[in-house]
Amino acid sequence: MDPDPAPFPIELAAPGTSNVSWQELLDAAELPQGSMRRVTRGDLDVLVAHTEDGIVAVEDRCPHMSAPLSIGTLDGCVVGCPLHEGRFDLRTGDPVQMPTTGGLAPDGTYRPTWSPAGKEPKVDPPGLKAEARRLTRVRRFRYFPVRVTNGRIEVALPGS
Ligand code: FES
Repeated sequence: MDPDPAPFPIELAAPGTSNVSWQELLDAAELPQGSMRRVTRGDLDVLVAHTEDGIVAVEDRCPHMSAPLSIGTLDGCVVGCPLHEGRFDLRTGDPVQMPTTGGLAPDGTYRPTWSPAGKEPKVDPPGLKAEARRLTRVRRFRYFPVRVTNGRIEVALPGS
C-alpha cells in the first residue's frame, strides 16, 4: 500500500505550486519511514522526508541560515539541522529548538544564544557578526504538495 502524504498548513504552500503539473521524484520504496533525502530538480533542492505522519516535501534549506537539512536528523516529525542545532517541526513549520546562535523566532521574538549541555558557552563574535546573528529571523517552511501514486512520490514544484 502507498504511504500517505503528511498534512501541512495550507497557508504555507510554496508560492507557485497551485495549478502546476506533478513531478515524479522517487520510488516510495526508496524512502522508508524515518528517512529523508535530497532530490534536485534544476536549481531547486527538495528535502523529501518520510515522517511518522507521512511524506512531506520542503526546500532542502534550513529556515535559519540555509544549511542542507538532508544531512541532519529526522526524529518523528522533527528535523534537526547539522549546523547550529536548530530543530523544526515538519507538521507546522515552526522551530521546536532555536539555533545555538539565537536570533529572531518566526514571530519576531528575540532569543539569545545558547550552548548545548556540557559545552562551554560561546562568546558572541564582535560587531556586525553579532548584529547579523541577532537580526536573523528563523522562517517557517514552505511546503511542496505531495502525492503518492502507484508507489511513486510526486510533488508540485513552482514553475512545473
Ligand atoms: S543553519 Fe540550521 S540551525 Fe542554523
